[in-house]
Amino acid sequence: MSFKVMAICAGRHGGNGEALAKEALCAVQEAGGEVELINLFDYNILPCTGCEGCTMQMGKMGAGLQKEYHGCVLKNKDDVDAIINEIQTCQGVIISVPTYDLTPSSVYTRLAQRFLAYELSFRLAIGDVKENPHTVAGLISVGGSMHDWQSLALESLQATMFTMSMQVVDRYMAQRDGRPGNCFVWGEGDEWGGQLARARRMGENIVKAIQTPVEERCWLGDADDGVCPNCHSSLVYPGDKHWDGVEFPWECAVCGAGGDLVTDEKTGRPKLRIAENGLIRDRNDDRARAEHLNEINKTRDEFFAHMGEVKPLIDKYAKMEFPTLEIKRD
Ligand SMILES: Cc1cc2nc3c(=O)[nH]c(=O)nc-3n(C[C@H](O)[C@H](O)[C@H](O)COP(=O)(O)O)c2cc1C
Repeated sequence: MSFKVMAICAGRHGGNGEALAKEALCAVQEAGGEVELINLFDYNILPCTGCEGCTMQMGKMGAGLQKEYHGCVLKNKDDVDAIINEIQTCQGVIISVPTYDLTPSSVYTRLAQRFLAYELSFRLAIGDVKENPHTVAGLISVGGSMHDWQSLALESLQATMFTMSMQVVDRYMAQRDGRPGNCFVWGEGDEWGGQLARARRMGENIVKAIQTPVEERCWLGDADDGVCPNCHSSLVYPGDKHWDGVEFPWECAVCGAGGDLVTDEKTGRPKLRIAENGLIRDRNDDRARAEHLNEINKTRDEFFAHMGEVKPLIDKYAKMEFPTLEIKRD
């Protein structure tokens, strides 16, 4: 079976993230895969305007009020359409992003926040995408520091995967990589070349996942990674009531799995023990995300019912003006 894997890099040209992604791609190539690499600095990526035109259209098409989906309002204004269409021809992606202020850099999040208009299950339903590529993903965060200064990096990358229905099968936090080339020195356990070896393993894991039947694919990353057994995120928080009253004592901040926080007998570390109904909000699951669409529609409907009271306030605040910063342009 032929397959293609794309590396999406958001770090410096010649930087650590690019080197690690290239090593992972070498493993893919050696296994007979087609590979490609893009560095997001080379593309024009406009920020999402927040217009919600995409989800409004999706809602209208679902209700039979609109025939044709026009996609994102920025569709022909930058390179995002071409990038996303190319991603959807791939069976695997490796996303390698530097950590800035604990989180993925904005060069990547700018792209990822445009994914919403390309929601895969919707595009499949309307025939915009012919076949589900069942894309698997490996995530690399690259930081100058260790986990304590990259605490939101991998989890924030994971949070960008749901809209495109990408299954994360491996993730790796590359640490102490401040200067280009640092990744060749430090490694897991500080051994020379350890980071390259880990990146290569990610490439191998991506190939393994692609070559596994879709329904049998599973986590191939480090076994004891994270606190959530569902998505391996390390971020679990005390749960609050959801819009429909559902509530869990503890929730995974990334996938939404719910349950109790317990001590793992084997490792002695905290672990989320998933409740019997703890995966009903699993954001990896298309059905759970469809439920979220119901929430969005319900919230919208309730809001529109108050339009009479709200409209004068919208106008009032739109007209309100304050001193601002003027930039002179010639
Ligand atoms: C604006 C800025 C913010 C940064 N913030 C962090 C941080 O919060 N945590 C961290 O570990 N490294 C941080 N770094 C270091 C980068 O993550 C590091 O240089 C990384 O190697 C960049 O990847 P690259 O070599 O692929 O470009 C920051 C760097 C910059 C430029």
